[in-house]
Amino acid sequence: MIDFEQLRRWPDVEAPELVAHDATDRLLLDTAQEALVAHPEHVTIIGDRYGALTLGAAALIGPHELRVHQDALSGELALAANAAALGSDAAWRSLPLDASLVEGARVVVLQLPRGLDALDEIAELVAAHAHPEVQVFAGGRVKHMTTAMNDVLRRHFGEVRAGLARQKSRVLTASAPRPAASPSWPRSSREGDLVVVAHGAAFAGASIDVGTRGLLEALAVGAPEASHVVDLGCGTGVLAASWALAHPEAHVVATDQSAAAVASARATADATGVGDRVESRRDDAGASLPAGSAGLVLLNPPFHVGATVHAGLAHKLFAAAARLLEPGGELWCVWNSHLGYRSALERTVGPTRQVSRGPKFTVTVSTRR
Ligand SMILES: C[S@@+](CC[C@H](N)C(=O)[O-])C[C@H]1O[C@@H](n2cnc3c(N)ncnc32)[C@H](O)[C@@H]1O
Repeated sequence: MIDFEQLRRWPDVEAPELVAHDATDRLLLDTAQEALVAHPEHVTIIGDRYGALTLGAAALIGPHELRVHQDALSGELALAANAAALGSDAAWRSLPLDASLVEGARVVVLQLPRGLDALDEIAELVAAHAHPEVQVFAGGRVKHMTTAMNDVLRRHFGEVRAGLARQKSRVLTASAPRPAASPSWPRSSREGDLVVVAHGAAFAGASIDVGTRGLLEALAVGAPEASHVVDLGCGTGVLAASWALAHPEAHVVATDQSAAAVASARATADATGVGDRVESRRDDAGASLPAGSAGLVLLNPPFHVGATVHAGLAHKLFAAAARLLEPGGELWCVWNSHLGYRSALERTVGPTRQVSRGPKFTVTVSTRR
């Protein structure tokens, strides 16, 4: 067994109250152990946060290659960093959330995603492509689990059983897959010329978030001139595709660390007919883009880190915007009014003015000094 205490979250946000493994990882590995050892060549790991599941499963099954999907790029990087730090000889392949991940799988070990749509897309995919005798072990913290998760699994599996809780974690075991007649993901909706396409784990699904809408409204009246635009933390790419629609000369980079987001943003741009001018990139805080390359950055920052409320991510994205902007370039940002981000924006990016403020959302423009 690996020493879970040695695992780190890096390069994800680190703080004393944020952990790199939890009791769910251990309960999942204990519950799935027999199946893992019985079918070591056909194991898929989904939703591993920082490597605990992949490295733990590898320690049980030896040199066999695991297929792994992690939505967050920082999770993929943390897995690799932890494997190196622990001197693990685990063999794994990181794959997108598509048939290649689960084709013929006998064992699927899953950290339950927070959203039901994300779970539905995963369950539908496994039911459609895994081995008919697949066993799915889906674990989570009891406080984040609802019976609606059992219902989602029951839509796609004939048998779903809930195990006993241990250290405030629980595992649901699903078997007897029922493949859907046709895939129902990704899903889409249309608003005027904009077609929003969403995979299950993408923020706000195929609808437009109220904060995003506020930012779009502010941009509609006071948008600056900019030909190189970055949609930072793009989600389904609503901001990127809307900007490209309204500015036929503009080149927009839509970047997010979530695989579901980037796949959605790509599909949104294509379905909206602006795919030739919107580049989508899976990237941690725009790190692969050159400094000073953008005249405008659009940002609706997250204020959750997993299930833990933490402002670290927003501050990281403000710093990223400051790096990406050319001097005089603008960061247009929408945030929950109670978060009071203005002084952080002033400090990190430059002079900041308020464009609109409602009881829930504030839109600000910060000019890169
Ligand atoms: C509040 S959502 C906004 C999504 C989209 N811009 C919109 O307005 O609908 C924040 C997004 O930031 C992304 N995100 C979080 N951490 C990130 C990081 N380190 N690098 C890039 N994107 C990140 C999340 O995956 C999520 O899609």
